[in-house]
Formats: sequence, C-alpha cells, structure tokens
Amino acid sequence: MNVLAVATGLVWLLLYSVFSAIRRIRSGNADRKKAVLYELKTTDTHKKKFVGFFHPYCNAGGGGERVLWTAISMLQRDEPDIISIVYSGDVDATKEQILSKVKTRFDIDLSPQTLHFVFLNSRHLVEDSAWPRFTLLGQSLGSMYLAWEAMSKLMPDLFIDTMGYAFTFHVVRLLGNAPVGAYVHYPTISTDMLERVRSRKKWHTNSDAISSSDVLSKGKLLYYRVFMYYYANSLRQASFLMVNSSWTKNHVDSILQHTDHLLDTLHMCTPLVLLRFLRPSQTLKSARIVYPPCDTREMAKFTLEGRERVILSLAQFRPEKDHAAQLHAFHRLLVSHPEYGKPGEAHVQLVLVGGSRNAEDAARVEGLKALAKELGIEEHVEFVVNASFPVMLNWLSRASIGLSTMVDEHFGINVVEFMAAGVIPVTHASGGPLNDIVVPFNGEPTGYHATSPETFAEAFHTVLTLPPGEDLALRQRARTWAVQRFSEEEFENGWNESGWRKWLPS
Ligand SMILES: *[C@@H]1O[C@H](CO)[C@@H](O)[C@H](O)[C@H]1NC(C)=O
Ligand SMILES: *[C@@H]1O[C@H](CO)[C@@H](O)[C@H](O)[C@H]1NC(C)=O
Ligand SMILES: *[C@@H]1O[C@H](CO)[C@@H](O)[C@H](O)[C@H]1NC(C)=O
Repeated sequence: MNVLAVATGLVWLLLYSVFSAIRRIRSGNADRKKAVLYELKTTDTHKKKFVGFFHPYCNAGGGGERVLWTAISMLQRDEPDIISIVYSGDVDATKEQILSKVKTRFDIDLSPQTLHFVFLNSRHLVEDSAWPRFTLLGQSLGSMYLAWEAMSKLMPDLFIDTMGYAFTFHVVRLLGNAPVGAYVHYPTISTDMLERVRSRKKWHTNSDAISSSDVLSKGKLLYYRVFMYYYANSLRQASFLMVNSSWTKNHVDSILQHTDHLLDTLHMCTPLVLLRFLRPSQTLKSARIVYPPCDTREMAKFTLEGRERVILSLAQFRPEKDHAAQLHAFHRLLVSHPEYGKPGEAHVQLVLVGGSRNAEDAARVEGLKALAKELGIEEHVEFVVNASFPVMLNWLSRASIGLSTMVDEHFGINVVEFMAAGVIPVTHASGGPLNDIVVPFNGEPTGYHATSPETFAEAFHTVLTLPPGEDLALRQRARTWAVQRFSEEEFENGWNESGWRKWLPS
C-alpha cells in the first residue's frame, strides 16, 4: 500500500460524496418548490417561477435593505407569477415580524402571498468576528458554505445576490445550474487595494508591522492577488450586474477587466485547470448603474421661496465628513464679505446638524466648537447634535445652501436630500456629489462644487447673491432632478434595462 493510492482513494471518495450530495439536492428540489407553493396557498402552480435573493442580513434596516425590499415590491407589482425567495440568516425573526419592520422602517407594503423566506443557520460563517485573520478569504469561503445551505433548502430559477457575496455564484451554478446576477453596493476587494499593498502604503487593513516588513508585504500581496483573481472570476459568472453608483461601477468594471497572466498560466499547468470548467461561457464586460431609490416625499413638499440665509450641513460628526473644512470655508466667507457677519438683513448663519455616536464623536464636536471660537465665528455657528427627524426636516425647509465637504464620498444621500428639499448644494468636487448627484440637468447646473476654503466661500457668495428669479429656478431644477433621478420609477427602469427577465426559464 503506498501513500499515493490512499490519497487517490480519498480524493475519489470526496468527489463521490460531493457529486452524490449534488444529485440529492437537485432531485429533491421539485418537491421543495411544491412545498413552498403549498405553504403560500398558491394557485396556477405550473406558471410560477422562483427568484432567489441572497441577503443574509435582510432584517438590518439599512440602505442595502431598502434596495432589496424595493426590488421585491417591484416584482410583486409587475410579475405576479414570480415567487420571491429571500435567503436570510435572521433565524430569530418570523416572516410576519420582518414584513412589519419593512413597513415601519421603509413604508413598503409587501404581500406575503408571493414571498417566502428560507432561513439559514450558518450565517455566523460570514461574520467578521469568525475570521480574525484572513478575513476576506474566510468570509468568502463562509459565504460559499452558506450558499450551499441555501441551495440545499431551495434552489431558485434565478439567483440574485444583493449583499456582495460573489463567491456564492460558483456554488449556485454548480449545484443549481441557475443563472446568477447581482446588485453590488461595494466591491469585496478593489484594484485600488491591490495597488496600495503593491506600493506598500499604509491603510486600515494594512497595519504598520506589515507594510514595514518586506516578506510579510510580499505574502500579503500574493494573498490579495490570488483573492482578486478568484473574485474577478466569480463576478464574471454573473449574467447581469447592477451597481449602486458610478464609483462602484468604475471599480467593478475594472475588476471584470482584471487579468493575471501568471495565475492563469499556473492554473493551466496544474490540477487547478479543473477550475476552469467553472468559467462561464459568456463574459460580462460591464455593470449597469441603478441608483438606489431615496425617500424624498417629505422634503419635496417644502416651499422654495423665502429661504433663510442659512448654510446647512447634514452629516454625522465623523472624521471623514471634514466639518473643520466647513468652518474654514465659512470663516473665509466672512473674511471676504464682512457684511455677512453683521447683524441684519445680510447676516448668514452656519448650522451643523449631525449625529454623535460615541465619545470620539462628542470630543470631535467639542474640538469643532473650539475651532469656531479660535476663528472668531462662533456666534454665527450653531451645532445641532443628535437632531430628531422632524428637527432635521425643519432645517431643510428653511436653509438656502446645503454644504458637504467630504472628499471622495461614495454617494451622499444628504446631498440628494438637500436638493429634494430645495436647498442649493455646495459640495466637494469629488465622488458621488460630483459624478452622480450635483450634475447638470437639461444642460443647466443643479448646484456648485468647490475644493478649498476660497472656492467654497466663492460658491456661497454666488448663491447668496443670485437674482430671485434665478435662485428659484435653480432650487426647482435641483429638486426636479434629484426627485426624479433617485426615484423608485428610475430604479425600476434600471432593473428592466439590466435584462434580468431574459434569464428566467421560459
Ligand atoms: C453604495 O453602497 C455603498 C456601500 O454600502 C455605500 O457606501 C454608498 O453610499 C452606496 N451608494 C448609493 C448611491 O447608495
Ligand atoms: C447622541 O446620541 C448618542 C447615541 O445615541 C449618545 O451616546 C450621545 O450621548 C448623544 N449626544 C448628545 C449630545 O445628545
Ligand atoms: C418595467 O417592466 C415591466 C414589465 O415589462 C413594466 O410593467 C413596467 O412598467 C416597467 N417599468 C418601467 C419603469 O419602465
């Protein structure tokens, strides 16, 4: 008996058990579908198709969940013969509880008749805490296991990942041979990250010890490189990809184009060549932007006339929001236009509304107050910490200018809210506010961009001195644009154009 024979035997045994598991899962699926239809008391059962949404944290109530539930409510409205399946790890909530939270949190009414939950027990495998080291890899393998659990409980006719678990695609295609698609909020790893390790820059996932040691750094680069290789391969399994912003599109598109000849060659020369069978036949070239819908109903009702001379900032007191830049810009304005600092008609006020989550944020607020004092502008600046929703709306209904200073913000829902409320946005010239939100509408501007205290101050002055007619027209245009572009209808249109329907079995 030699070792080789034992090893070969073991490999065959493993392959045999995997294949028989696959067969078992596949052959039982028709009955599982029937059971779901029976539970939902469905009629016309032969017409029904199953669209599965992989969203293990579906009860979290965040922006990603709004996208999920809006998509499902759209399916319920347009496609009565589709049963939406949500793969969820929220085992301690019931279907009724989840639906009622969707109603209170997002004001979305879902019909229980065409919606079914498949509850998954192994969600802990995709949590950060489960993988203190090699988190990306661990979570990805964990998500594959979770997808296996999902498929063994029910295989859909079309699988859509709405949480960014691209590694699940392999499992779904292998087990269910079902087409997959995704709505991507954020790439798991970006080509930027890879570059950063390559150039050994410090970054939050790249601690000092690693960037100073050559061997570790090379090891880390290899790890990222291999990870990127497989991530890109996973994404290419998708039949359609939607992304939530142009920032995400740029990253996802560059990942789809990513090539690594060395790793390709390695795969050709070793048993890893088998993995090539997992390659899809057609290759997706790019993702489609489908902006998430924003709820602007309240704000869009505010009157546009008679706005107070208030510059409003609406941002949590987090470091990246760069509130200090707001104080400097405002200071600059008062220096170049002292009349704005005098009591009376011309007086301008800066109001910073934002949440303070913890002791660091609270300390930051104190620091900002001290800075305002040092700049001699404290009597013109008001801090509104932890404002309630009505208080925030009240400021939105009164302000003239909406200020956002964060650099490279991926999106900026606060900027959409400014515009819907009729508040003219002045934002940093980068990221979502530059590329997605404050962009010309019918060839005319919807707001202003700036980069330095001087240019911010100039933009404020421009808005404050707009002739009344132009002022009103700009507010109206910004509102019309924001409400329309980030509307549910536009979202639905984006899904329609992504072509997801043609992947349903006929
Ligand atoms: C896209 O998703 C990311 C990650 O959740 C988020 O930071 C960003 O704001 C989102 N963009 C939009 C347009 O909602
Ligand atoms: C704001 O809210 C946070 C958490 O909700 C709390 O810890 C903090 O003390 C609050 N700060 C103020 C100034 O109200
Ligand atoms: C999307 O397509 C469905 C089905 O064809 C249609 O009913 C719906 O009106 C479309 N929505 C938009 C916004 O185009």
